[in-house]
Amino acid sequence: MLRFLLALLLTCAVVACESGPSATDGPAEDAARRDLHSYANSDEIRVTHIELDLEVRFDERRLRGSAMLSFDRLEEGADALILDTRDLTITAVESWSPTGGFDAATFSLAEADPVLGAPLTLVLPPEATRARVTYETSPGASGLQWLTPEQTAGREQPFMFTQSQAIHARSWIPLQDSPAVRVTYGARIRTPEGLRAVMSAANDPEAAADGDYRFDMPQPIPSYLIALAAGDLAFRSLGERTGVYAEPSVVDAAADEFADTESMMAATERLYGPYRWERYDLLVLPPSFPFGGMENPRLTFATPTILAGDRSLVSLVAHELAHSWSGNLVTNATWRDFWLNEGFTVYLERRIVEAVYGPDREAMEAVLGLRALHADLERLDAADQILHVDLARRDPDAGMTQVPYEKGALFLRRLEEAAGRERFDAFLRGYFDHFAFRSITTADFLAYAAEHLLADEALAGAVPVEEWVRAPGLPADAPRPASAAFDVVETAAAAWAGGAVRAADLETAAWTTHEWLHFLAVLPERLERARMVELDAAFGLTGSPNAEIAHQWLLIAIRNAYRPADARLERYLLGIGRRKLILPLYAALAATPDGRERARAIYRRARPGYHPIATGSIDPLLGWDE
Ligand code: BES
Ligand code: ZN
Repeated sequence: MLRFLLALLLTCAVVACESGPSATDGPAEDAARRDLHSYANSDEIRVTHIELDLEVRFDERRLRGSAMLSFDRLEEGADALILDTRDLTITAVESWSPTGGFDAATFSLAEADPVLGAPLTLVLPPEATRARVTYETSPGASGLQWLTPEQTAGREQPFMFTQSQAIHARSWIPLQDSPAVRVTYGARIRTPEGLRAVMSAANDPEAAADGDYRFDMPQPIPSYLIALAAGDLAFRSLGERTGVYAEPSVVDAAADEFADTESMMAATERLYGPYRWERYDLLVLPPSFPFGGMENPRLTFATPTILAGDRSLVSLVAHELAHSWSGNLVTNATWRDFWLNEGFTVYLERRIVEAVYGPDREAMEAVLGLRALHADLERLDAADQILHVDLARRDPDAGMTQVPYEKGALFLRRLEEAAGRERFDAFLRGYFDHFAFRSITTADFLAYAAEHLLADEALAGAVPVEEWVRAPGLPADAPRPASAAFDVVETAAAAWAGGAVRAADLETAAWTTHEWLHFLAVLPERLERARMVELDAAFGLTGSPNAEIAHQWLLIAIRNAYRPADARLERYLLGIGRRKLILPLYAALAATPDGRERARAIYRRARPGYHPIATGSIDPLLGWDE
């Protein structure tokens, strides 16, 4: 009994120090700290380092090799290590001890849950400090995409990449797939000769492309940030600590688009303290990348759809860079706390944009963000309008709405308004320092804020913090971003819609991407064919090379059955795999029986080029079961 109590005490002490303070831990808070999306028994045994040895087999669409996991036993006598897996074939499991070396170990793979995958249980002798799992991934692994040469810009070499967030790391590495568990990692990666592998670790752009690469990630990161890509990659330096990798035919355009990265980094450091990851590089992926960006540490993965030629879509770089503080340094401990990652990051993103591009551009982006939030609040159930969302028995990807992003950012903006910028900036800087390299829950943030910001009674009384975090919708004190430039755009749109001005006579010469996006968003829902033709003739919208503007225009075209845009729509859906850009177009098409047929015909051709994460969302929409 005494031993049990001691072990319990020890565990609590370690857990508290590993994953943040637990000021008022009661049963409810314990429950909120539990990660419902991992089988790992990380409060008994905790993996601290992973050593990967993987071969990238394009011919089989598999990774083959091993993962060696080093661990600490938090609970004395714990002899089972439970790992998360999804669709992995396990061929051998060994334990390793400092005295006895490798030894075959007993293991069992349980039945797979559709959301969580299958727990892999390893039985470990008491002296073991590491375990090695030899395995291969499945060709349909949810966290991998394999592209044929034809699906790349260069059309000569294949390409592959990982996408681990939220719970897809387990589809390519057997590990404790919880954001509360942080590991350092090392990797040896073999690819066909001539291809280059890069990871969310120290990368060497000078390394010979001989197909044998070594990586080290010395800072402890959660599993969802482990990342790998391999393809025909070139590198351009952007500044002392920044650079970009992309296919050779894309890399110069990318370097030009991302020229402000070094200034963004400097601006963020001025606000929130030193960048702690040494280098910040970007990797531009082929167009099938399902997200806009992914903040893999030291190496953000980005969609090529932000290469607009005029740097107008680079707030995405500000966003992914900001994650180097909010998310990668201070990490959500469970997916319920996702808003701690994304809400903070959108807030930081806007501050970076304001510092580098000025308050007018920031204001436009905040208004566009608010519109997207309102659209989501209208369609979402009340439960999903809550920052501290309940994701029990659901795929954490279901929580990827504008709520954690834009409502989260508005909450911080509200706190900034109430505290004053100077005080709030100091608070945030202290927060990043205090929780650096730790994973925390919503309760941890609230406890820290109560002590370091809301101890001021006037301030605490001014912001209904509990309502912000636990109630649906937007509290009455929510900030209302506004943009003077957009007021001008609205006047223009109304004048045209009311027939007072012809499209060709509108003063649009100085409009930026943002103003076009706003213009298209405030046009009347229904437009006669002649009016569509007039807009298109005046502004060449069907031919817009800007992926965001084209997206907005194509939505209008679908809604108004504007046939001249049909070919462009088809090319768009065949050429881009970014879920945020294509899903709404399929949804708009699916709103009518004819459109649905067209959507299915296009999807039949486009689907083989889409990522499993994109098809996972579009299949149900189109009733696809082939
Ligand atoms: N971390 C997210 C992407 C993500 C979230 C992937 C959840 C999987 C699960 C990334 O930082 C992000 O938010 N990307 C946005 C762009 C951003 C500018 C809002 C995206 O991809 O659209
Ligand atoms: Zn993000």
